[in-house]
Amino acid sequence: MRSTILTWATGFLIGWASLAANAEKFPHLADTPAMGWNSWNTFDCNVDESMIREMADAMVESGLKAAGYEYINIDDCWHGERDAQGNIQVNKERFPSGMKALADYVHQRGLKLGIYSDAGNTTCAGYPGSRGYEYQDARTYAEWGIDYLKYDWCDTENINPIGAYTTMRDALKRAGRPILFSICEWGDNQPWSWAQDVGHSWRVSGDIYPCWDCELSWGSWSSWGVLKILDMRADERLRQYAGPGHWNDYDMLEVGNGMTEAQDRSHFTLWAMLNSPLIAGNDLRNMSDATRDILTNRDIIALNQDPLGVQAMKYLHQGELMIYVKPLEGGDWAFMFLNRGDTPLSYTHDWAHHFEVKDDQFGHHINFHDQQFTWRRLWRDGEGDTSKPLRLKLAAHDVAVLRLSPVR
Ligand code: GLA
Repeated sequence: MRSTILTWATGFLIGWASLAANAEKFPHLADTPAMGWNSWNTFDCNVDESMIREMADAMVESGLKAAGYEYINIDDCWHGERDAQGNIQVNKERFPSGMKALADYVHQRGLKLGIYSDAGNTTCAGYPGSRGYEYQDARTYAEWGIDYLKYDWCDTENINPIGAYTTMRDALKRAGRPILFSICEWGDNQPWSWAQDVGHSWRVSGDIYPCWDCELSWGSWSSWGVLKILDMRADERLRQYAGPGHWNDYDMLEVGNGMTEAQDRSHFTLWAMLNSPLIAGNDLRNMSDATRDILTNRDIIALNQDPLGVQAMKYLHQGELMIYVKPLEGGDWAFMFLNRGDTPLSYTHDWAHHFEVKDDQFGHHINFHDQQFTWRRLWRDGEGDTSKPLRLKLAAHDVAVLRLSPVR
């Protein structure tokens, strides 16, 4: 009898421990923000396997892979119907070789494959969602060799967001293949306040649109330009929640999708400073040199991928000028000067006047009276130090970025 009770108790403990082990997301999949490419911003629903293969090739050939990009993510519309057992299938016309073969192709190039689903009955484009099929879908994705899941929030009336996203997190964990979990519920339910242990990133806004400061209304919802997303969500309220393994996602990049070069440069710098995932959204097969140079700028990417993982904070907003600062590993700091306005701007930054920088949320401080820094300009040549004022000329919608290092 005693041994029966002991066996039973041990079994219970093991069962409980394995369940508890499942009740967490996969660790270390996003110690720094994810970098990759996603089909939606350029291709909308027009996805198929040959385009995705070509994009994987282009990621390697263009130098994006060498710069750190790794995920090839298929957004909405890859789906076929569920089969008689409820297994989700690919659209066989668009993906005749199947998803497993596509994942193999992507993996052979040293890259990873991402896919898209939705917490509701249907995706935003009306394909089958994962509601009620979470564990089954997660198993299918794992069998296919998927590495990243973007999980959307359409058709979810009366569903509890924390419950829905936690269920999919647990399903992924149970399926056993490390899959980065990218939450996409547009910031409607303040995911920053509950999703740290659920996902590896969470969208903070509605969809991005390739414009500087516009709002494009679709009736019940809008798409947003770069400054609109910035003003809506790049603040102290959200930054405190981001860190290694869990990031605010300011949406996929629109670099190369129709904005001016200055706007693209500023957009990319802002997303890097904010530790947003850097998911390119242009056609990698035929981008201009200017677009490629922006997407592969190693100095800017290094700000995004800095191991300290502290999101930039707004330091000054004066007319059309904005300054964001970002503490970096080893005592370095990034200073970003942004001209939001439509005309060129001349600005002199006197370090002796703005001598204090205080990041109370993460405990990083500068006092330029006590500590001198050298600086190096990113995006273009230039060096100096904080003993004399910095003179800047910023073109409309353009940016200047300095990397400061303490003089020891
Ligand atoms: C939502 C998401 C977009 C995209 C589309 C696909 O709008 O926010 O990023 O995934 O759905 O239908």
